[in-house]
Amino acid sequence: MKRLIFATNNKHKVQEVRAALEGRVEVVSLAEAGLCGEIPETAETLQGNALQKAQWVWERIDTVGAGFDGCFADDTGLEVDALGGAPGVYSARYAGEHCSFDDNITKLLAALDGQENRHADFRTVICLIENGEPHYFEGRVDGQILTERYGEGGFGYDPVFMPDRFAVSFAEMPLDVKNSISHRGLAVAKLKEYLEQ
Ligand code: IMP
Repeated sequence: MKRLIFATNNKHKVQEVRAALEGRVEVVSLAEAGLCGEIPETAETLQGNALQKAQWVWERIDTVGAGFDGCFADDTGLEVDALGGAPGVYSARYAGEHCSFDDNITKLLAALDGQENRHADFRTVICLIENGEPHYFEGRVDGQILTERYGEGGFGYDPVFMPDRFAVSFAEMPLDVKNSISHRGLAVAKLKEYLEQ
C-alpha cells in the first residue's frame, strides 16, 4: 500500500480523504509525519497554492525517514457568483487573518443580505508529487448559499452551502454522502483513479 503525506493538519480533511482512500493509500498528516512549521500559501490560484504546499512537503520528505511514496496538498475555494467569484482563493481568511469559520460565515451572509442570486461553487485542486513530478486533480460542486446556518457537521462554510439536487446543507449530511458529491470528494476520486492505474 502506498504511503503519502497529506499536507494538512485539518482533522476534518484528513478524515474525509482517509475515508475516500481507505484500503488503497495510507494517508499521513503533517503532524503524524513529524513535519511542523507554517506552509506558505501565497499563490493567486488554487492550483498555485496546491503546488506550493505539496512542494514544501516534497522538499522535506527525506527528513522524515524513508517509506513515503510522495505527498499531496489540496486547495479549495468557495466561489460566489454575486460576489464576482469571491472569496475564492481567500476563502480561509475571508473575514481577516486568524478568523474563525463562523466569522467567515457571518461575513458571507452579510455580503449576500437581500441578494437573490445565491449560486456558488466549491472548487478543489489537489497537487500530488511523486518522483518530483506534480500531477493535478480537480473537483467542483455547485449549489446555493443559504440565508442562515443549518446543521452541526463538517467544517468551514458547510452550514450555509446546499449542493444542487439536495434539500440539506453539507453540515446536515452524513460524511459519506458529502464525500460522494463534494468538490474534494470528486478531486480525491480522480486522485484515487490515478493511483490505481
Ligand atoms: P483549504 O484551502 O482547502 O484549506 O480551504 C480554504 C477554506 O475553504 C477553508 O478554510 C474553509 O473555510 C473552506 N472549505 C474548504 N473545504 C470546505 C468544505 O468541504 N466545506 C466547507 N468549507 C470548506
